[in-house]
Amino acid sequence: MTEAHNSWVLVTGASSGFGEEFARQYAKQGHSLILVARRLDRLEKLAETLRQQYRIDVVVEQVDLSNLAEIVRLHERLRERGIAVDILINNAGHGLQGPFLDSQIDTALAMVQLDIASLTAVTHVFAQDMRKRRRGKILLIASLLAYYGVDNFAVYAASKAYVLRLGEALHREFKRDGVTVTVLCPGMSDTGFAQAAQQKLTPALKQVMMQPAPVVRAGIRALQSGRISVVPGWANKVVAFLARATPRRLNQAIFSRVMNG
Ligand SMILES: NC(=O)c1ccc[n+]([C@@H]2O[C@H](COP(=O)([O-])OP(=O)(O)OC[C@H]3O[C@@H](n4cnc5c(N)ncnc54)[C@H](OP(=O)(O)O)[C@@H]3O)[C@@H](O)[C@H]2O)c1
Repeated sequence: MTEAHNSWVLVTGASSGFGEEFARQYAKQGHSLILVARRLDRLEKLAETLRQQYRIDVVVEQVDLSNLAEIVRLHERLRERGIAVDILINNAGHGLQGPFLDSQIDTALAMVQLDIASLTAVTHVFAQDMRKRRRGKILLIASLLAYYGVDNFAVYAASKAYVLRLGEALHREFKRDGVTVTVLCPGMSDTGFAQAAQQKLTPALKQVMMQPAPVVRAGIRALQSGRISVVPGWANKVVAFLARATPRRLNQAIFSRVMNG
């Protein structure tokens, strides 16, 4: 029995994209898993595959994380089952491309609800337990867009800037309690994100598009080694560096071109 066999990993947004890949990579390491998302059929199919392939425990939880009461109920259900989360992958999120004033305010606020409020609430409830046990690891999924205010991605980019800042602050706050917080900032990646966000894939984006597996590997490695944040992929690292090293007007204009064509 390895240490991984006794530790639970909770993955939000496990029904596709990065979340599904996090589940696969942690399953391969022998961890027990809690898979959370709304699409139950996809979660159950993945759970069955991972149970058979790796002989691990997998709990499926159909939860709409936009509803904060559902987050509290999820936490209670796991506590009643005696499950303590050792690693939290706070990944579920949603984007939307388009001019700010052309989207319905409800749509924009739904994004704020999931990407900011729900992520914050999930972190809060599970980090409380980790603090009591004086151990735990939390990975927050932000985005390369956290580094830039990008036109036609205004609310999403601002939401991800929040996630990055939250994670940086909590990294220091939780350290003294033995809990690690790391932020993963992926660039364009081949998941269900672009379709859900009605995103136009520009030629530049197609060129730099990453597969979920290396992005997830970089996130797991950074979390394991206790880093504050990580940008996966060399092209993305250059983009993040330019955000700090070049004048705002210039880097924003270039990045806007990459994102919007
Ligand atoms: N792919 C990229 O280019 C990219 C780049 C940077 C950052 N990101 C971030 O990466 C994270 C994962 O996205 P992805 O790229 O893997 O996209 P994805 O394939 O669309 O996955 C999104 C996941 O979030 C879940 N989700 C959405 N709304 C939810 C809700 N209300 N309650 C519970 N789960 C919900 C979805 O499951 P259900 O629909 O089944 O609920 C799905 O499993 C997001 O935070 C995204 O912002 C993505």
